Amino acid sequence: MTPDVAAATGYDLERVRRDFPILSEEVHGRPVAYLDNAASAQKPLAVLDAMDRIHRTGYSNIHRAVHEFAQRATDAYETARRRMAAFLGADSHEEVVFLRGATEALNLVASCLGRHVLRAGDEVLLTGMEHHSNIVPWQMACEAAGARVVAAPVTERGELDLDAFRGLLGDRTRIVSVVHVSNTMGTVNPVAEIARLARERGAFVCVDGAQAAPHRPIRVDELGCDFYAVSGHKMYGPSGIGVLWGRRRLLEAIPPYQGGGDMIRSVRFSGTTYADPPAKFEAGTPHITGPAGLAAAADYLEDLGFDAVAAHEEALRALAEELLLQIPGVRILGTAPGKAAVVSFLVDGVHPHDLGTILDHEGVAVRAGHHCTQPLMERFGVPATTRASFGLYNTRAEVERLAAGVRTAIGVFRG
Ligand code: ALA
Repeated sequence: MTPDVAAATGYDLERVRRDFPILSEEVHGRPVAYLDNAASAQKPLAVLDAMDRIHRTGYSNIHRAVHEFAQRATDAYETARRRMAAFLGADSHEEVVFLRGATEALNLVASCLGRHVLRAGDEVLLTGMEHHSNIVPWQMACEAAGARVVAAPVTERGELDLDAFRGLLGDRTRIVSVVHVSNTMGTVNPVAEIARLARERGAFVCVDGAQAAPHRPIRVDELGCDFYAVSGHKMYGPSGIGVLWGRRRLLEAIPPYQGGGDMIRSVRFSGTTYADPPAKFEAGTPHITGPAGLAAAADYLEDLGFDAVAAHEEALRALAEELLLQIPGVRILGTAPGKAAVVSFLVDGVHPHDLGTILDHEGVAVRAGHHCTQPLMERFGVPATTRASFGLYNTRAEVERLAAGVRTAIGVFRG
């Protein structure tokens, strides 16, 4: 963040970094420069403390017993549900389902909405930039129903081709499921517009918000979608916890995902009746402390302010692209205007995995690979990229170390 932006927003980067103990770790003898936030972000003390507090002062299984520890743990869990409803702009906490993460949320929607509405000949419309977690569950649901998956193309800049999307949206389209922010390119999709178009055609709309929630305020009430999936671990919260938001009438209408304890009203060998949502979708003992950690992460993000976080990350993205493009043979994949702070790039003569390994030796953590977006890699004719993804605690010095590491790798491989 440039000093003037910091002054305008009051963003105190040094204080932010002190909130994340792991950032003082060294890797291969160097201070870690953690630039793999799109995979998993680090956790502030507030998140660690929120979970620790439950373990230390009121841990038990939830919703089941009358004893005090069960009460405290249940209160923490249900308070977090209300917090996440507010964070997502939901009408009611009863529309917030706690699950393992966005992958489980998308699997739930594909499986349960799929069983409810998909019939032979129907289509599920996706985009060419989806993560595998928003492709494979739909393929499975379509296979079961005799329906098919269709993907709208991605332009050379890495944007959704909206005209092509409109053309593919037809009478057979029953469900549209799109990523809000691309994990590989940072492209921000016009989700409200997509939802409007889909709903005009009577299609249900599901959004993979895993990469959006850490960077921008989410208002499901304004997006016009039917389901929205979020992962805790990408928004500075715990791993193993996430949220599926769904419209109440749809959560009531679709069948449950898994059977077990806590999701029933009554069980007889002659048949079972189900609890109301969200309990209907939360079979078994959940991640008891996770929601409290996730709610603490939501507090942390909102206390910093999304505008300040976005300005900080945008400055890092711009610097990273400027420095990388000064290096001969570097190409950036995904150049959509307004993209999030994700920089996927290719370096002539250096394989992304080799580059990732050399950067690691410099203490710089990035992801190298297909980023669980193989169809997108195929679209661009590349097997893999190196991806730097920035978070609210990263610094300009870390971006400079990334660029220096790329130059080192080029020296090693190009001689
Ligand atoms: N979806 C995560 C990523 O993009 C794992 O790295």
